[in-house]
Amino acid sequence: MDRRVRKAVLPVAGLGTRVLPGAKTTPKNMLNVFDRPILSYVIEEGRAAGIEHFVFIVGRGQGAIEDYFDASPEIESALEAKGKADILAEVRRDLPKPGQMSFVRQMAPLGLGHAVWCARDIIGDEPFAVMLPDMLMAAEPAALAQAVSAHDQVGGNIIVVEPAPEGEAHKYGIVDLERQEGRLNRMRGMVEKPAPGTEPSNLFISGRYVLQPDIFPLLEKQGKGAGGEIQLTDAMAELMKAQPFHALEYEGVTYDCGDKIGLLRANVAFALRHPSLGADARAAISGLL
Ligand code: UTP
Repeated sequence: MDRRVRKAVLPVAGLGTRVLPGAKTTPKNMLNVFDRPILSYVIEEGRAAGIEHFVFIVGRGQGAIEDYFDASPEIESALEAKGKADILAEVRRDLPKPGQMSFVRQMAPLGLGHAVWCARDIIGDEPFAVMLPDMLMAAEPAALAQAVSAHDQVGGNIIVVEPAPEGEAHKYGIVDLERQEGRLNRMRGMVEKPAPGTEPSNLFISGRYVLQPDIFPLLEKQGKGAGGEIQLTDAMAELMKAQPFHALEYEGVTYDCGDKIGLLRANVAFALRHPSLGADARAAISGLL
């Protein structure tokens, strides 16, 4: 069996209710962060981690995602004719080689666990990554690359975590560690939205995972959990009885693009760090204050 992490699952079939009406006709993860869609950054991160095949779990009305990762002969030939080589390179930068992306319909948004389960046939019998694309992670090395290195080191399953803002741990999925020493620690369990004061740590599960394929049969037999959805955390808790899980506190900054203020923060941050437009962006933003 290949132990390398070659494939990543990107569940994008949620309804994006927190960013409506923007996400009504544009899939949430196709919304722009400054000059490119959220998914462009996430694919770049995946590639930096050595991912060779991306499996998107999509819903109805999300054809724009497939179109974005396909050639666009009209646009490309118009740019070629006009000699706009720089824009052409931008348009082509995210394109996969044919066969490096798959698109699976979830058919009903039954929860993150169900979305991941939809990838079972394409993943097969090898470890794989899960990337929740609403979480943009600015990191060097890339956040998923840090998780893959941790997997190379300790094997099993890896969950990327980060400290919750002071007093906000009860809003998140929080990990319970055997002991907290350095950034990579063996887990004992996890709790979804613990009551204030009962949090086992301040580290929340932030949207990147490396999982073993043994998660699939557990997702298959799972009933509905919290919120009437099939939860990934419930299946991971079950798998933890048989296999080690480590929490990796990654080094970097996360922007949660799943709500309006997080998306705004990401827009400002990525505009400020843009290689050619960053200085103009800074002037434009300070002019607003
Ligand atoms: P979220 O709950 O953050 O996304 O799920 P959402 O449902 O789109 O957002 P809101 O709460 O309505 O605003 C985390 C990720 O899992 C995907 C979502 O698309 C998102 O990328 N997801 C969630 C699915 O693919 N299928 C589901 O059934 C649920």
